[in-house]
This record gives sequence, structure tokens and C-alpha cells, in this order.
Amino acid sequence: MRVIAIDGPAGSGKSTVARALARQLGLQYLDTGAMYRAVTFAVLRSGGDPCDTETAAGIARSMDLEVGLDQVIVDGVDATLEIRGPEVTRAVSEVAANAAVRSELVSRQREWARQRDGGVLEGRDIGTVVFPDADLKVYLTADPSERAKRRAKEVSDLDYETVATDLARRDALDSNRKAGPLVEAGDAVVVDTTGLDIDGVVARVLALLPGETRGPDGVPG
Ligand code: DC
Repeated sequence: MRVIAIDGPAGSGKSTVARALARQLGLQYLDTGAMYRAVTFAVLRSGGDPCDTETAAGIARSMDLEVGLDQVIVDGVDATLEIRGPEVTRAVSEVAANAAVRSELVSRQREWARQRDGGVLEGRDIGTVVFPDADLKVYLTADPSERAKRRAKEVSDLDYETVATDLARRDALDSNRKAGPLVEAGDAVVVDTTGLDIDGVVARVLALLPGETRGPDGVPG
């Protein structure tokens, strides 16, 4: 089993880098953030309170969830767009801080990789909790203002200030929670993507893998 863990805060470039790596290495890709968003979506859809830990945990355990490359299906409903919407985005940190929800999703993530003999997984706790023995752990960062700029570009209906404030709030919640907080694994390679283009980041990460083609500069990290 070959597992590549890509962790880091929102807007650090994780999704773009993880997708490109998966494609180049012929591995499958899993966006674990989409799983926390899907649980949040299911809780809101059922009329439940995302802060109610028992409700969220029960839904996480019983829900039917398919996270594909471009589509997320929750109990047979296409939730691809709604999981990125403002309601889910506002409530997801609360659900992601729920230890019982995390334990359920971590099991599903391990099972996903086991069935595929590995993969590229992106999230916050992949290298620290889900796969502490991953073959490669990458922790992506970028300046908060650059991360907010990237996110503001993705969500056209929100202005920069709103995105920046929300990002800072989620960073704080994700970093300070007890269960699976956002933190660099001691053995992760940290790449600051501020001012770097994605191809450059992907080449740099590929160069860290034994036996892979070297990046344009020919040197790791
Ligand atoms: O990457 P994203 O913005 O889609 O993540 C949504 C939320 O889920 C965010 O608050 C962080 C949380 N998350 C997490 O706690 N652990 C993961 N492995 C992935 C995401």
C-alpha cells in the first residue's frame, strides 16, 4: 500500500496539488474535507443541530457516502455544490471538532485506502492520525492573505474581507480543537506555496518520492 498524505490549512493549495499528484502517480485521490462537509450537509438536511454531538455522530455512522473525484453523493442525493455553500462552510468546523464523527470518518478513510492499495489523501490530520506511517507526508502552507485571495477567487459571490475573516476563524477552530487538530506531523515536508505556481509545487513534491522523475530544478525541497 502506497499512501501520500497532504495536509494544511484552507487555501494552501492542497486540493490542486493532491489531484495533480494522484494523476501523475496513477493513484486515486480522496478529499477528506468533503467528507466532513458531507456529514454537515446531512445534519442540516435532517433539520438537526450541527452542535448536537450525538446527532452528528449518529448521522456520520449511518450515512451512505460516496466521495468521487468530481462528485459527492450523500444518501443518494448529489451534494456536490451544497457542501461548498455558505451554510455548510459556516457549520463544518463544529462537526469536524466532534470526536465521534472524526473516529467514524477516519475509519472510512483507512478502509478507502485499504481497498485501493493506497492513494493520495488530503486533509488536516492525514499524516498525524489517519496514516502516521504514510510513505510521504507533505504539509502545505501559504500566507493567510494569499490563501484568502485564492479562496475568494473560487467563491465568486463572496468578497475578499468576508473570505479572509472566515478563513481565520476556521484556521483557529481547526488548530485548537482537541481531536485531530491541524498540526504538522514531525516528519512532514513543509512546503510554503506563497508565490509558487502549482506545477512548481507538484514537481517539488514528486522529487521527494524515490524513483520518480525529478522536477525541473532537479533537487528536492
Ligand atoms: O478542506 P475543507 O475546507 O473542505 O475542510 C472542511 C472542514 O473540515 C475544515 O473545517 C477542516 C475540516 N477537516 C478536518 O478537520 N479534517 C480533515 N481531515 C479534513 C477537513
